[in-house]
Amino acid sequence: MTRHFLRDDDLSPAEQARVLDLAAAMKQAPYDAKPLAGPRTVAMIFDKPTLRTQSSFAAGIAELGGNPMLVDGALAGIGVRESVADVARILDRQASAIVWRTYAQARLEEMAEHAAVPVVNALTDDFHPCQLLADLLTIREHRGELAGLTVAFLGDGACNMGNSWLLAGATAGLHVRVSSPEGYEPDAAVVATAAAIAAGTGGSAVLERDPQAAAAGADVVVTDTWISMGKEEEAAARAEVFGPYAVTESLLALADPAAIVLHCLPAYRGKEIEAAVLDGPRSVVWDEAENRRHVQKAILAWLLEEPS
Ligand code: NVA
Repeated sequence: MTRHFLRDDDLSPAEQARVLDLAAAMKQAPYDAKPLAGPRTVAMIFDKPTLRTQSSFAAGIAELGGNPMLVDGALAGIGVRESVADVARILDRQASAIVWRTYAQARLEEMAEHAAVPVVNALTDDFHPCQLLADLLTIREHRGELAGLTVAFLGDGACNMGNSWLLAGATAGLHVRVSSPEGYEPDAAVVATAAAIAAGTGGSAVLERDPQAAAAGADVVVTDTWISMGKEEEAAARAEVFGPYAVTESLLALADPAAIVLHCLPAYRGKEIEAAVLDGPRSVVWDEAENRRHVQKAILAWLLEEPS
């Protein structure tokens, strides 16, 4: 059966741990594993802006011995010029996997339903699971084991990162607190799913309105832009309510003294995060960005080689 990586909970706790182990090994020896030798082609499509995702997938696919093929989403006119299902039937004859960044999660699900090769979510409106694998690898590197640590995610919980933190964090056995202003909470169904996963891993998944309470004692403090791609017209309204959720030095002082700071980037200094925090000693955002390549190599290798 073809496995896909469309949302964070597509991986069981054991599978997530296996992919992270694979990523750590690939980081140690970046040129050893060649599961895409041939070279086999991986199609990459971006319907939204990208820097880290495109460059890390392209470099990672090449390191695996494969050929990264950029398919221009605008030229292809996916869902406009031809249906998502037909695009899946075309691309799976050309490529060994399809990596897609798009808007609605339903488009990605439709692609996966009709593709005979693995489909990987490179960000949708709802989830950003590759980013979360990179975040978990980064936490593991800086804080050791994942299970039992507390993560405070501050800001826009209603976007891909809020949802993905709940699911991936719960899968890893983390205690995840999402702190957002009213009206910007993560999807209620995702919160419930995350809580159910956490019940089995010893973690937890909760919403905490008060950003200071969320940050108190946290081992990891995370934020994301307040204006996700596609939400630009809401910038003014969002600036009014998100202020108290900014990751500042004074907020960070409430966290564990050894707390690290993550941000998926791009970051807006002086908005969701103070420059002194982003560029300061607790920030591990450049390791986090590098780790995109290692985890994406691992998920591609795993999807193509390991599921039974
Ligand atoms: N929530 C952000 C993540 C960027 C990597 C966005 O969707 O724009």
